[in-house]
Amino acid sequence: MRNAKIAGMGFFVPENIVTNDDLAQMMETNDAWIQERTGIQERRWVIPGEDTTSGMGVKAAKMAIENANIDTQDIDFIIFATLSPDYYFPGPGVQVQEALGLDTIGALDVRNQCSGFVYALSVADQFIKTGMYNNILVIGSELHSGGLEKTTRGRGVSVIFGDGAGAAVVTPSDYSSGILSTHLHSEGAHAKELALIGPATNRWVDEIIKDGDPDDLSYYPHMNGNYVFKHAVTRFPQVIMEALTQNGYKPEDIDLLVPHQANLRIAQFIQRTMKLKDDQVYNNIMRYGNTTAASIPIALSEALQEGKVKKGDLVCLAAFGSGFTWASALIRW
Ligand code: COA
Repeated sequence: MRNAKIAGMGFFVPENIVTNDDLAQMMETNDAWIQERTGIQERRWVIPGEDTTSGMGVKAAKMAIENANIDTQDIDFIIFATLSPDYYFPGPGVQVQEALGLDTIGALDVRNQCSGFVYALSVADQFIKTGMYNNILVIGSELHSGGLEKTTRGRGVSVIFGDGAGAAVVTPSDYSSGILSTHLHSEGAHAKELALIGPATNRWVDEIIKDGDPDDLSYYPHMNGNYVFKHAVTRFPQVIMEALTQNGYKPEDIDLLVPHQANLRIAQFIQRTMKLKDDQVYNNIMRYGNTTAASIPIALSEALQEGKVKKGDLVCLAAFGSGFTWASALIRW
């Protein structure tokens, strides 16, 4: 069976920078609180109407295709991970197929929130390994800003999330390099601890409007912050160790860990627990906030641009988020 590798990466973030001081104009919060609890200094929020989840995904995809040095027409499958699609249905994969002018190729949408990119990468890995496809476009893109409650009531959630997109082109590789393994997990018992409950088939728009309850927050993302934090700091090291152990490696063998950018405190906790050095972990949440499915491909793209990943390096991607879902991928670059 052949191996799969990431042949090119790209990303896009909106130009509009929203600082913590900007947020303090909208709600009772402050730069010190946000930085102390999350490490975030600023995030990018789309100016309403200027971009979309699929549009940002297309921009990231074009950069990844160029970086992979292939022709757009060589793409033979699309996998799009997001929790913030342009439409309730269809998912944004088909919009990418149309925007890139790709002739009726398959497009799959992945709904795994912060773990979405690693789940999508794992699907691509399987399709490449079996020989079904040769140049798979994997996108993670999110437009959070339009759906956040930007008031003091919503501050525990709204200060954390940012907009952006990242993409990878996954192609066949030789046996000495590429994706070594992927590991996917879920625990639905915690589904409501980090969720957007409605509008959905569980709670239709009509019902929300009919009830007119000012305390009904079902249409805003809900997060039990402390609860999420505790599970995240347990699951991240577990799933990273699972990948290392399966491949006969130890934490000191990792050249670069790119964790999902959930919260800088979570990343620092993982680093301490696993006794990793500063140059073994890449973080950019300070500049972009938490961009859920887009965070890993944005961070990996920047790490590559900064020369922090070289051929032959052992790279670990790891994610945890709503579901709960968590996942890792170990890659010999
Ligand atoms: N600015 C100022 N104060 C805020 C605030 C904000 N943006 N958000 C909440 N607060 C207040 C709360 O109202 C509370 O006030 P009180 O003590 O008077 O009731 C106080 O700060 C502490 O709130 P709490 O929610 O207990 O804070 P915390 O220490 O748990 O930090 C998070 C909140 C969200 C930063 C933290 O729980 C976290 O990072 N969790 C993980 C979240 C995450 O990573 N999610 C993505 C997973 S993929």
